[in-house]
Amino acid sequence: MDRPFVIGNWKMNLSLSKSAALARAMAEEKPPERATVVLCPSFPFIAAVAETVEGTHIKVGAQNAAAEEKGAYTGEVSAGMLKELGCHYVIIGHSERRQHAGENNEMIKRKLTLANHYGLVPILCVGEKMEERQTGQWENVIAHQLTVAEGLPLAANFLIVAYEPVWAIGSGQTVSSDDARLAARTIRALLLELLGATVSQKQCAVIYGGSVTAANVKMFVGQDLMDGVLVGASSIDAHEFLGIINALNK
Ligand code: 13P
Repeated sequence: MDRPFVIGNWKMNLSLSKSAALARAMAEEKPPERATVVLCPSFPFIAAVAETVEGTHIKVGAQNAAAEEKGAYTGEVSAGMLKELGCHYVIIGHSERRQHAGENNEMIKRKLTLANHYGLVPILCVGEKMEERQTGQWENVIAHQLTVAEGLPLAANFLIVAYEPVWAIGSGQTVSSDDARLAARTIRALLLELLGATVSQKQCAVIYGGSVTAANVKMFVGQDLMDGVLVGASSIDAHEFLGIINALNK
């Protein structure tokens, strides 16, 4: 992929003023256009961040979307609403939501379908737990999680699969370069089966997430490796996040 994705998942970390300041810092720095940079703030601050980065090539994404299109779902935010707010991307099925909000494949499939229907690029998160890796089950786990993409009518849209091993998130541990290469190859092969050759090659990207920093990002992205990164902790510091973007543009 010529333009690596560098996607920042701010999680539930930043206040309004800090979100706006971080977006402003990113917009002022004008990161190189050879990377696709996406910022994913908390729901209430999406509009402020979208306004701040308007006119730059930085895009905005959401961290979640409802599994329903509209109706009596108190507290939910729909894919259509996110589109109206200026989102281009949405993270779906993050392991923290699978763990804390009880999201399962059936809900994730509905979210994925709705995001796609509303023209948001879904960033579908998959990844195994430590015990699943230790018992050699990681491929099966990912294959099962990826079945939600089967037959997804992508039309002109795009799908990003984020391989985020649960044990690598926020732990300082990462996969090795060889494991990143193997995971990228495995996920691409599964996407080929699920979506066919044309779509899987032209409209899908595979990225890595889990303790990515400016110092280690080159281990994961490149030829035969991943098409970019999904970044948590290192994305809420403008200097570190820009360091990641710049490291991929050298
Ligand atoms: P960390 O980069 O903090 O490990 O988080 C990764 C992640 O969960 C991104 O979605």
